[in-house]
Amino acid sequence: MNEYTIPLSERELPREWYNIQADLPFEVPRPVHPLTHMPLKKEDLRPLFPDVLIDQEFTGKKWVRIPAPVRDAYRLWRPTPLKRARRLEKQLKTTCRIYYKDESVSPTGSHKTNTAVAQAYFNMRQGVKRLTTETGAGQWGAALSFACNVFSLKCRVFMVKVSFHQKPFRKSLMHIWGSEVFPSPSHLTASGRKILQADPHCQGSLGMAISEAVEEAVHHRATKYSLGSVLNHVLLHQTVIGMEAKKQLKRAGETPDYLIGCVGGGSNFGGFVFPFLAEVLRKKKIRVIATEPTACPTLTKGLYKYDFGDTSCLTPLIKMYTLGHGFVPPGIHSGGLRYHGCSSLVSALRSHKIIEARAFHQTAVFKAAVLFAKTEGIVPAPESAHAVKAAVDVARKEKNKTIVFNLSGHGFLDLSSYDKFLKGELKDFAYPVSKIKKALKEVPASENG
Ligand SMILES: Cc1ncc(COP(=O)(O)O)c(C=O)c1O
Repeated sequence: MNEYTIPLSERELPREWYNIQADLPFEVPRPVHPLTHMPLKKEDLRPLFPDVLIDQEFTGKKWVRIPAPVRDAYRLWRPTPLKRARRLEKQLKTTCRIYYKDESVSPTGSHKTNTAVAQAYFNMRQGVKRLTTETGAGQWGAALSFACNVFSLKCRVFMVKVSFHQKPFRKSLMHIWGSEVFPSPSHLTASGRKILQADPHCQGSLGMAISEAVEEAVHHRATKYSLGSVLNHVLLHQTVIGMEAKKQLKRAGETPDYLIGCVGGGSNFGGFVFPFLAEVLRKKKIRVIATEPTACPTLTKGLYKYDFGDTSCLTPLIKMYTLGHGFVPPGIHSGGLRYHGCSSLVSALRSHKIIEARAFHQTAVFKAAVLFAKTEGIVPAPESAHAVKAAVDVARKEKNKTIVFNLSGHGFLDLSSYDKFLKGELKDFAYPVSKIKKALKEVPASENG
C-alpha cells in the first residue's frame, strides 16, 4: 500500500526514555563547577533543579521509566505520526524515500513539550511552586507554560528581546497558559541590568536570558529553573521521538540510510537520533547529519572546549562545541538556533566523528521550507527547515536511499519571517570568522589546558 502516514497506537507510546550514555564506547567529559572549577557534583545543582532531574542528569542507566502522569500528558499528542513525503519526492524526481517524524502536532507546535511536561511534573512532585526559564523564538517558553499549566505551577519566562518583538504570538500562547513573559535583557535581574548598562539597545541572546532565569531561581525559595535544551536530562526526555520513529520505520519495512535533525542546543536532534545510534556504533552505515545556520555555526565553526552555558558565567562549564559565551548571533529568523554552545552529548558524538554537521544560509533554508509547504502542506518552523534543507539536498544527490528527518515544529507563528522571505527581504549572514575568533578568546583557559 502507498501509505503517507505510519501511525502508532496510544498503547505503543514508549514506557521508558533511552540514555545513550549507557551505549557509548567513550566517557563524555563531565561538567565543571563555575567557581571551584572541580567536576560538578549533584549538590551543586540542587538550587536549580529537583532531585529526580539531577539524578537523570548524572545517570548511567540505559532506560529511565516515564511516570504515568507524564505518559498521560503525552497522550494529548503522542505518539506523533511518521510520514512519507511522497509529494516532495515526486517534485524532486528523486528515487530516494523521504520520511519525516512530525513533532509539529504537539499542543504548542514543537518537540519542546516532550521535556516540558516531564520537567514540570518532577518539579511539582518535589513541592516547587514556580519555574523560571529563558526562551528564544518562544517555542520553549510556550511549551513550559503549557506544561506548568498542566501541573499547576507558576512560570516566569525571559524571552530574547529580538524574538519578543519579532514573534509576539508565542508570547500570547504563554499568557494563555498563565505565564509572565519579559524581554531579556531586563531590569528585573542584576545580570540584565549590567548588560543594559553596557548596551541599552542590546537585542539579547539565549545566553543572556539563561543568566537572568538562573539568577531568579537561585534567589527565590520554591522557585526552580528549567532549561529547554542542552542538558542530558532534556535530551533523555526527547528520546521518545526516536523510539517511536524506530518502531514506525520497522513497521514501514525501512532501515534509514540518513538521519537528519536541526541543532540549537541539540535536544530534538539528540532525541531523534540517539535511539538509532547504538546501531550506528555497531557499524551500521547510517549517516547522521546535524544542521545549523551559517549565522550561528556552532558545530561547523566552533571549538570543542569547556565553556559557560550563559553570558554572565553563572552556569557550569560544559565541554561542548562553542562559539564563546559572549557570542551574540545576528537576528536571524531561526531564533531557536541562536545559541553559542551545544549539548555535551551531541558535541562528544561530533568530536568522535559519529555524526556530521552542515550549515546553511537562511534564504536557502526558507526556499526548502516553501518547497516542503507546497508539496507536503505543512509550513515548517524556520529551525526545522534546516533539516528539510539537508533532506532535500541529500535526496537530490543520492539514489535509492531512505532519508528520515525530524520536523521539530511548524511555522504558523513564524509567518512574518516567511513574508519577509517571499518579499526578498531576508539577508544571509555568515558570521565573520574574525568575530568568532574574538568570541572564542573568552573561552576560559584553565579547564582547557
Ligand atoms: C521548532 C524548533 N526546532 C528546533 C529548535 C532547536 O532546539 P534544540 O536543538 O534543543 O532542539 C527549537 C528551539 O527553540 C525550535 O523551536
